[in-house]
Amino acid sequence: MEAGDTPRAVVLVGCGRLGSAILEGWLKTGAIDARDLIVMTPSDKPAAEAARARGARINPPPSALGEARVLVLAVKPAKWREALTPLAADLNPDAVVVSVMAGVTAADIGAVAGRPVARVMPTTAVAQARGVAALWSGDAGARETARGLFAAMADVVDLDLESRIDAATATAGSAPAFIYDFVLALARAGEAEGLSAEAATRLARGALRSAGAGVDAGETLEALIARIASPGGTTRAGLDAMAAGGDLDRAAAAAVKAAVQRARAY
Ligand SMILES: NC(=O)c1ccc[n+]([C@@H]2O[C@H](COP(=O)([O-])OP(=O)(O)OC[C@H]3O[C@@H](n4cnc5c(N)ncnc54)[C@H](OP(=O)(O)O)[C@@H]3O)[C@@H](O)[C@H]2O)c1
Repeated sequence: MEAGDTPRAVVLVGCGRLGSAILEGWLKTGAIDARDLIVMTPSDKPAAEAARARGARINPPPSALGEARVLVLAVKPAKWREALTPLAADLNPDAVVVSVMAGVTAADIGAVAGRPVARVMPTTAVAQARGVAALWSGDAGARETARGLFAAMADVVDLDLESRIDAATATAGSAPAFIYDFVLALARAGEAEGLSAEAATRLARGALRSAGAGVDAGETLEALIARIASPGGTTRAGLDAMAAGGDLDRAAAAAVKAAVQRARAY
């Protein structure tokens, strides 16, 4: 980088499940020019290799970090200090840190990084540019930098307090797995009513795709339900059975509460 150049590079630290999904989303949408990407990864990853083929640098010498405008921290919560500490000194002084880790506070990261921090909690569907991401930062510049990284591949939802990140993690980051699990339970229930395992699985997966298509169209969830559930019909009977005794609300509350508590225990 020449003196006076504006730093452009985006450093991604960690290229596991979420890091790879973020990288794939950037490549798919072109939100970040691959030539501006630096990926730090201890082991070879297909997403990093795809980025390298388009001009990204993988594990370059530390001096490359002087070109960074932002560092995205996507390692496991237990690994972040050992991942960030050796990089902090070489990072461009104006670069901000964006953490996608659950359970690690901006204050803790800021104390090591010595610079503003934003926290983002995305879903792995950013890879398909169909993600959702909760965003919080106490620093306006870091917040807008983080928004710029994710806006092309996720619906970015601003949070007013950092403490809400844990609830957002449970309600968005973890929730696709909760929904898949519910769809699996529906498939098992279909089997119990006589469907073959193959038919039940295909039908349940198709139902999930159909549900997703409704959401993509932008209607409210209540309107989508009302459109399927005609009064006195089969869907209404199923919905009433699910609501009876509060079992559905209890299951959802238990899943979100357990995920929140787990995030707070990191
Ligand atoms: N998965 C999700 O859906 C999701 C959603 C929201 C938030 N998150 C958050 O995202 C973070 C990562 O989760 P994950 O599911 O992607 O975990 P993961 O698949 O285990 O990925 C973590 C990656 O970090 C790499 N790593 C370890 N030490 C490193 C270092 N010193 N420098 C650079 N990279 C290093 C590991 O590399 P190796 O593979 O070479 O060991 C691994 O690929 C977590 O903090 C989690 O809370 C995940």
